[in-house]
Amino acid sequence: MTPILRNTSLKPFNTFGIDVNASFLASFTDAAQALEVLSDRELKGTSRMVLGGGSNVLFTKDYEGLILLNNISGIELFANNDDTVLVKAGGGVVWHQLVLWTLDHNLQGIENLSLIPGKCGAAPIQNIGAYGVELKDVFYSLNAVEMESGNAVSFTREQCGFGYRDSIFKREGKGKYIITDITLELNRRPSLNLSYGSITQELQKMGVDQPGITQVSEAVCNIRRSKLPDPAVIGNAGSFFKNPEIEASKFHELKNEFPTTVAYALDNGNYKLAAGWLIEQCGWKGKRVGETGSHKDQALVLVNYGHATGEEIVTLAHEIIASVKNKFGVVIEPEVNII
Ligand code: EPU
Repeated sequence: MTPILRNTSLKPFNTFGIDVNASFLASFTDAAQALEVLSDRELKGTSRMVLGGGSNVLFTKDYEGLILLNNISGIELFANNDDTVLVKAGGGVVWHQLVLWTLDHNLQGIENLSLIPGKCGAAPIQNIGAYGVELKDVFYSLNAVEMESGNAVSFTREQCGFGYRDSIFKREGKGKYIITDITLELNRRPSLNLSYGSITQELQKMGVDQPGITQVSEAVCNIRRSKLPDPAVIGNAGSFFKNPEIEASKFHELKNEFPTTVAYALDNGNYKLAAGWLIEQCGWKGKRVGETGSHKDQALVLVNYGHATGEEIVTLAHEIIASVKNKFGVVIEPEVNII
């Protein structure tokens, strides 16, 4: 029986480093262990939440319920066809460890997603993405346990309903499942995605003219290290806000009034605005407010200088949202899960 801890600080379990307590805390290394905890009579009726690396969550108060830490390990490779293989990773595998494993096995597909904090089980929830690639591009399926019934369930890529930083697990499936493993379809032969300009620039800087997946991964790590704060040094949860999608007419209006507007055209005719740019233009970049602030190298990232409360960070987020709305008439939304 895995121990159930009481009134335990969650500080080590969230990358923002917020010091709140959970009434109950237990970790599990397989689905059976998780179900054992969930069926504990004493915990009947309490709310429950699964945490992976705690890298996309902001706690604003003590968690009155059970926090389950996903520690399911293991990476397996299955033959698929001549071009691709299937790789299955336990929900508790650290995402970047999986990336390194794929590099070792010369499998292409997730090198652009190097160094994203968090664990594999959480990756589909927000369809992690960076440098021109999203998890959905390589995602095959996942296995999960429905917490209410204890039933094992599987989801294909279509059933996950992926969108930009979005999936069914943020909508109708929110808080309902423990993701026990994910399976990705990766390429045996390299077909690199160098669409994101800063990768090619970084590869040039590195003196690489014939990159392979390892060099692309190194380039991504270099870029991330140069502008994203390391949560082990300064608390944060990556981008705090999503990049907002706006209609073409609104984009042209903005471009007219603010010629340096940073935006990308989407296939549906809309534009995605760089929220970091919007926030920087409102004067927040590098600004410290008490124990929190917007990061000096990437305005989209809110940080904890050491003793911030979740409430303090949420207050700052609201002020940022209000000033962006006031200046640009655009509403930005948090990407991080606020609890
Ligand atoms: N920009 C600014 N000021 C800033 C930050 C950005 O002007 O302070 C402008 C720059 O022009 C820059 C552009 O915005 O060229 C885009 O910036 P960046 O390449 O850093 O990407 P992003 O759109 O701000 C997104 C993801 C990141 C991901 C990067 C790279 C979201 C919410 N964020 O950020 O993901 O690493 O692209 O692909 O989509 C995360 O989700 O936690 C995360 C870090």
